[in-house]
Amino acid sequence: MRDILVTGGCGFIGANFIWHLLSEPDFAGRIINVDKLTYAGNPDNLAGIDEKSLGRHIFIKADICDAKAMARIFEEFDIDIICHFAAESHVDRSIESPGAFIQTNIVGTFNLLELARLHKNRLTLFHHVSTDEVYGSLGDDGSFTEETPYRPNSPYSASKASSDHLVRSYAKTYDLPVTISNCSNNYGPYQFPEKLIPLMILNALEKKPLPVYGTGLNIRDWLYVNDHCSAIWTIMKKGTRGETYNIGGRCEMQNIEVVKTICDLLDEMVPEPDFGPRRDLITFVTDRPGHDLRYAIDSSKLQNELGWVPTESFNTGIKKTIQWYLDNKKWVERIKTGEYMAWMKRQYES
Ligand code: NAD
Ligand code: TYD
Repeated sequence: MRDILVTGGCGFIGANFIWHLLSEPDFAGRIINVDKLTYAGNPDNLAGIDEKSLGRHIFIKADICDAKAMARIFEEFDIDIICHFAAESHVDRSIESPGAFIQTNIVGTFNLLELARLHKNRLTLFHHVSTDEVYGSLGDDGSFTEETPYRPNSPYSASKASSDHLVRSYAKTYDLPVTISNCSNNYGPYQFPEKLIPLMILNALEKKPLPVYGTGLNIRDWLYVNDHCSAIWTIMKKGTRGETYNIGGRCEMQNIEVVKTICDLLDEMVPEPDFGPRRDLITFVTDRPGHDLRYAIDSSKLQNELGWVPTESFNTGIKKTIQWYLDNKKWVERIKTGEYMAWMKRQYES
């Protein structure tokens, strides 16, 4: 292993993955972290990385849609592995303005694939990080397997589905060594507070309304972010080239259950005797258009073939997550400026 290109390494999962990689005893290379630093990319997610990495982490601010800039990076570094996280990742934003999703998620992935093709003789792996949302929505029963047909319902999931198909086609057509992972909803440290869990934690701490879409009965299958990172690393090391692996922790919960759990834990961890139960902050709001009812992922292929197992239950993971947001007030304060505030204003205060 020489230089691993990590795209989107300043985002939520990318940053957690870089921290994870640096603690892996069997990783000896350098990390070339390429990130455009959109509203979701936050250098604070990697604060202290220089001391920890001892020069093995190199950050380059670049847009994966900029083919020339990306080509220069491939000239400069001896990249043999690509782990591709960079994406526009929030469904609500994709409904509001899909254009950036088409550019980054589809055109950006295409650019990377073209570079991988050009440098194929030194490339040992292109790992593409994707989502279970490409499979669409489930009814009351069943779960997504790697054989489930793609039926994306939002511009976000459609753009990720498109990128998955491009990656697969490059493996078939150009014999590129690829793996793809499709993971369920993540939560944990460094998640930008537009997604359900950090939004609810921060709003509940500030005694702001907790906006639950529709009935709150939609189901997501939650996975602690470190478990996602360990799964990706397992696939990168042991996965069969050309294969797709589903990642999930078999932790289905209705949104309303998640929100109530956060309220109850915060009541215990940060008691406010003069304020009623935080559950009183729950506010049902207009549903998301095309809101997928249920996701549930079957990760038995990854577990049986590669021996990966998740380590956190929702109970342990959510406590760690809440504690992280309580312990990292500076991170929270800094993130609550600029683009985040503008987004919140548009969403809930108009
Ligand atoms: P995120 O929005 O927190 O981070 C995305 C990162 O990509 C940011 O650092 C951003 O600056 C960067 N980026 C965006 N556009 C870019 C561009 N054009 N060029 C370079 N960098 C760019 O997203 P996340 O939640 O960390 O998700 C990472 C990946 O994992 C995505 O591909 C997403 O589809 C996938 N995924 C996410 C989840 C989840 O629950 N968050 C679940 C499954 C899969
Ligand atoms: P989200 O975190 O945006 O992830 P995704 O849409 O990719 O699954 O949303 C998780 C679930 O929570 C989803 O069913 C939508 C719902 N939700 C709310 O009810 N209120 C909110 O404010 C947000 C952001 C999400």
